[in-house]
Amino acid sequence: MKTAFWKSKRVTLTGGSGFLGSHIATLLKEMGCRNLFIPRRREFDLRQREAVVRMYKKSRPEILIHAAAVVGGIGANRRAPGTFLYDNAIMGLQVIEMARQFGVKKFVLIGTTCSYPKFTPVPFKEEDLWNGYPEETNAPYGIAKKVLIAQIQAYRKQYPDFHGISLIPVNLFGPGDNFNLQTSHVIPAMVRKFSEATEKKKKQVTLWGTGTPTREFLYVEDCAEGIVMAAEKYDSLEPVNLGSGLEISIKNLAEKIADLIGFKGEILWDASQPDGQPKRRLDTSKAVAGFGFRARTPLEVGLEKTIRWYRLNRSSIEREKELDACAVLQE
Ligand SMILES: NC(=O)c1ccc[n+]([C@@H]2O[C@H](COP(=O)([O-])OP(=O)(O)OC[C@H]3O[C@@H](n4cnc5c(N)ncnc54)[C@H](OP(=O)(O)O)[C@@H]3O)[C@@H](O)[C@H]2O)c1
Repeated sequence: MKTAFWKSKRVTLTGGSGFLGSHIATLLKEMGCRNLFIPRRREFDLRQREAVVRMYKKSRPEILIHAAAVVGGIGANRRAPGTFLYDNAIMGLQVIEMARQFGVKKFVLIGTTCSYPKFTPVPFKEEDLWNGYPEETNAPYGIAKKVLIAQIQAYRKQYPDFHGISLIPVNLFGPGDNFNLQTSHVIPAMVRKFSEATEKKKKQVTLWGTGTPTREFLYVEDCAEGIVMAAEKYDSLEPVNLGSGLEISIKNLAEKIADLIGFKGEILWDASQPDGQPKRRLDTSKAVAGFGFRARTPLEVGLEKTIRWYRLNRSSIEREKELDACAVLQE
């Protein structure tokens, strides 16, 4: 639905060609945004201050949505914790500081639930963000993003013209997700493993961990909608969760995906591999109160769309460089 608000705005969307970013870009265009700039990493490596300045000089945004990040599941986080911390922190610190210097009217930070303490009472409330150390396997990533939330809050206090907001989406899934087993999150990894096992008529699929942790998942198009609504309507230093409010165990999720794909074999659990955070579900009431966001897509519908997309795009996904198939990874 086109709106006058977006039609007249100059918007820069970092990470706009990534999984979440491409859905935000699609929605912004549908809303009538005619002036959208998406900096690609090969031209604007946002770890470099010079590239950040060049991006702002070229695009002169009124609104900047910062969705660029180094993202991955447990395996990727464990292999490169330094990269997850440094790249995400340095990109964000510079992109936020230059937003201030270039007079950006609205800055939207995309955070992560990995910033929450390992043992946060469920459902996670935004007030609990600072009450403990994050789950170890992805703490460097979560802490880098948490620094940026603190930066936004500090800037709002020091610079009255700086209108930065922080959003905390839960685990996302949907068309366009990363299906590379080395770096993927749990849903695309399961979709791929069950699809390949079904084709090869395998009798068993082994997944990481015990299957007992619970997770909440948000369909990526719903998340994009929440971000666009917040960019337009929300303006406070309090971070806001974006979730669906629905919690499911990894075991039940695996059974659901296996069923949708038609995998009839046995699911085995490799308990020697980490489970990640024991429970994750967000309190989503602030997003409802703050800018009227409620997720709309039921899990099954989102899973069906994801599987359909994977089937249509398999050949290009398989062309991607794959190392040894290793794991189901859970953010
Ligand atoms: N996926 C999830 O489940 C999830 C859940 C909660 C929060 N989030 C957050 O949502 C955001 C997007 O995640 P995603 O899953 O969509 O990630 P993604 O598909 O991996 O996309 C990441 C994007 O970041 C850009 N990028 C990475 N390093 C960069 C650099 N040095 N300079 C410039 N651009 C760089 C990439 O640009 P190029 O395409 O040009 O390489 C890419 O477009 C992230 O902030 C992430 O923390 C994701």
